[in-house]
Amino acid sequence: MTQKKLAGAGLRDQVAGKTAICTVAAHDHSGLTYYGYNVEDLAEHCKFEEVAYLLFNGELPNRQQLQAYQAKLQGLRDLPRPLKEVLERIPADAHPMDVLRTGVSMLGNLETEKDFSTQREHADRLLAVLPSIVTYWYRYSHDTVRLDIDTDADSIGGHFLHMLHGQAPSALHEQVMHVSLILYAEHEFNASTFTARVCASTLSDFHSCIAGAIGSLRGPLHGGANEAAMAMIENWQSPIEAEAELMAKLKRKEKIMGFGHAVYRDSDPRNGIIKKWSKKLAEEVGDTQLYPVSVRCEEVMWREKKLFCNADFFHASTYHFMGIPTALFTPIFVMSRISGWAAHIFEQRADNRIIRPNAEYIGPAVRTVLPIDQR
Ligand code: COA
Repeated sequence: MTQKKLAGAGLRDQVAGKTAICTVAAHDHSGLTYYGYNVEDLAEHCKFEEVAYLLFNGELPNRQQLQAYQAKLQGLRDLPRPLKEVLERIPADAHPMDVLRTGVSMLGNLETEKDFSTQREHADRLLAVLPSIVTYWYRYSHDTVRLDIDTDADSIGGHFLHMLHGQAPSALHEQVMHVSLILYAEHEFNASTFTARVCASTLSDFHSCIAGAIGSLRGPLHGGANEAAMAMIENWQSPIEAEAELMAKLKRKEKIMGFGHAVYRDSDPRNGIIKKWSKKLAEEVGDTQLYPVSVRCEEVMWREKKLFCNADFFHASTYHFMGIPTALFTPIFVMSRISGWAAHIFEQRADNRIIRPNAEYIGPAVRTVLPIDQR
């Protein structure tokens, strides 16, 4: 019998399947592409809906296709009454990620995927409806407002900001949302996407795959890091204080949220992009604290540990400058990553084999059950 080789902890550096959707750190431990397009290129030239279309179809849309797609998504934003009733029962101190998970799960009861021929319709529906779910609950539970879901915004990010703030966002804020949602859209076999693929591999339904993925994304080692980074930097009044506190944390061997990555070695290609927008927003709101604190954290972490900001770190200040409550940071990640999750569910289903690895056994040797009064 051949000896099985134990996979690296956390399946690090293991190839767990094939994908045509995305590359992460494929060249010299750097770079991120969606269907062959560099993320920098997409973030500079595209709207998020173009990228979602790319992830669902493998090609970017032309102008007519994009307009038709945006109009379709606009028509899919409304919430069924029973879903609103469920959302109205969730308390204000619930975590919005739990609200999204429940919202998706409830929708799975109301609009069940009966067979895979409708998978694309379910993907579009969830892409369109997630901002409505989280903002409807947020405004009802915090302000007792029953929001009218119908905003004029033709973009997902614009709709989210309009629902949240009760007014149309500025062109700048809508553009930042496009960039942010593009950066978060897809990332190969990360934990939440792998969760979705494992679930899909059992031939389970679309909503179950997405609910499971939301649960994986919620943790601070994954999507929850943007929220955790904000909770950390908002305590620090100046770069000097940030540096002192950060050094103390490193001495205590604490993990610093928003830094490091399981795959990239020297930098995360998404960081430079979102950092630029954070700086622009800092200038817009006249910030003299949060952005300089963030920059000092970046400098200290590189100097002390050669650790770099991942996509989450400058997203914290970016979202904060747009008046988004911290608890809604990770749900925005869901509103975006649903596009990547869906693409991977389609891909898994198109060439499926149930995902079922082995474990190296480290428990007791085989033994006999003693009668209960002899144990
Ligand atoms: N702060 C402090 N030290 C860190 C660190 C961080 N954010 N990230 C990694 N390290 C250290 C580890 O403690 C470890 O040191 P050691 O060898 O002395 O034990 C070393 O760097 C290697 O890190 P490791 O935890 O093995 O990397 P990983 O691939 O298992 O984990 C992350 C990757 C992303 C989970 C990890 O970097 C992390 O927890 N980051 C903070 C959470 C975060 O921002 N998540 C979002 C990811 S996009």
